[in-house]
Amino acid sequence: MSIYDVIPITVADYRRRARRRLPRFLFDYAEGGANDELTLAANVSAFQRLRLKQRVMRDVSGVDTATELLGRTASLPLALAPVGMAGMFARRAEVQAARAAEQAGIPFTASTVGICSLEEISNATQGPFWFQLYMLRDREFVSGLLERAANAGCKTLVFTVDLPVAGLRLRDFRNGLLGGGLPGKLSKFTQLASSPAWAWDVGFRGRPHSFGNLSDKVANPEDLEAYKAFVDAQFDPSCTWEDIHWLRDQWPGKLLIKGVMEAEDARAAVDAGADGVVVSNHGGRQLDAVAGSASKVQAVAGAIGGQAEVYVDGGVRSGLDIVKAVALGARGVLIGRPWVFAVAARGQQGVEDLLDLFRREVATAMALMGVNRIADIDARVLDNSG
Ligand code: FNR
Repeated sequence: MSIYDVIPITVADYRRRARRRLPRFLFDYAEGGANDELTLAANVSAFQRLRLKQRVMRDVSGVDTATELLGRTASLPLALAPVGMAGMFARRAEVQAARAAEQAGIPFTASTVGICSLEEISNATQGPFWFQLYMLRDREFVSGLLERAANAGCKTLVFTVDLPVAGLRLRDFRNGLLGGGLPGKLSKFTQLASSPAWAWDVGFRGRPHSFGNLSDKVANPEDLEAYKAFVDAQFDPSCTWEDIHWLRDQWPGKLLIKGVMEAEDARAAVDAGADGVVVSNHGGRQLDAVAGSASKVQAVAGAIGGQAEVYVDGGVRSGLDIVKAVALGARGVLIGRPWVFAVAARGQQGVEDLLDLFRREVATAMALMGVNRIADIDARVLDNSG
């Protein structure tokens, strides 16, 4: 054990701790990307490559990290991304993370395929949160979900468009989660048996392990093979922009289209009535070899920035990455794995502490860049000299 394991501070620290605590197949399910994981790496390096300008003597006594995300004040240009089955990483993890987000003053996004239902999250928190939707073949069920979301106080719908089919995450195959047969089951049993802290927190105290929003639609999420079968049977690959028009009519609140990488698709999203897009490749979990999402923000913002808000996710690992995203033209960023690792390692407190670190990192960077307000961060703070 090293000193970093005693007090986790950064995303990398939480990742290390989560890795020790979770059964192997769950850790790999969270961390992994599709195929050769080229895009997973590209997401991180697209942020790492960017350089900021150090500016001095500018009176930065009034640094303020607050901003507005889809018409609501947030303490940072940051939201927690939707993560399916989060409640398998820590006990009722969606509730823990939603509370941490509320504490920090930023939005939490509940996934269609969360363990905790919309109602459970709403009962545990005060303010509105975001709801992420996958289009299911059963449109009546989708309408029902939207009604539940509205009743639970959601004002923003995040509609994910980059999963017409599930990407090929080969770690899941390797761990025997998919198509594993008896060897797969034995391997899973061994992995579960070697994670006693997780087994107590999630396996015992974290029940029930059903998909809170879909409980009458799909079997137990502990069975990833059944889940995959559900995705194949219910997720609708025939979805087109026409369906967004339908969705727009069903949903009176804000609509964000998540999973757009190209300017042309962003324009189509706005034409279909979206209030914003999330530039995203699903954290490198879908089409491998697609570019790092940060590298696409400027083009998308150039295309629709005047009409709609641009968000980005994939590879954000610090407050500095948040500043860089805003400099590229994003209204804000979403984080996925960082909060998953934090909640798996230390529950709500872990997420709160990580968000507090991000806040400090943004504020400190702003002061050292000579800017006081988020609105003052634009392409001029980026250093193109390398
Ligand atoms: C996801 N993501 C995701 N997206 C979505 O729209 N609905 C979902 O249910 C899920 N589920 C999910 C599970 C896990 C384990 C991960 C890691 C990711 C994608 C997520 O919202 C986001 O786009 C990425 O996680 C962003 O990349 P980083 O921050 O993880 O690098």
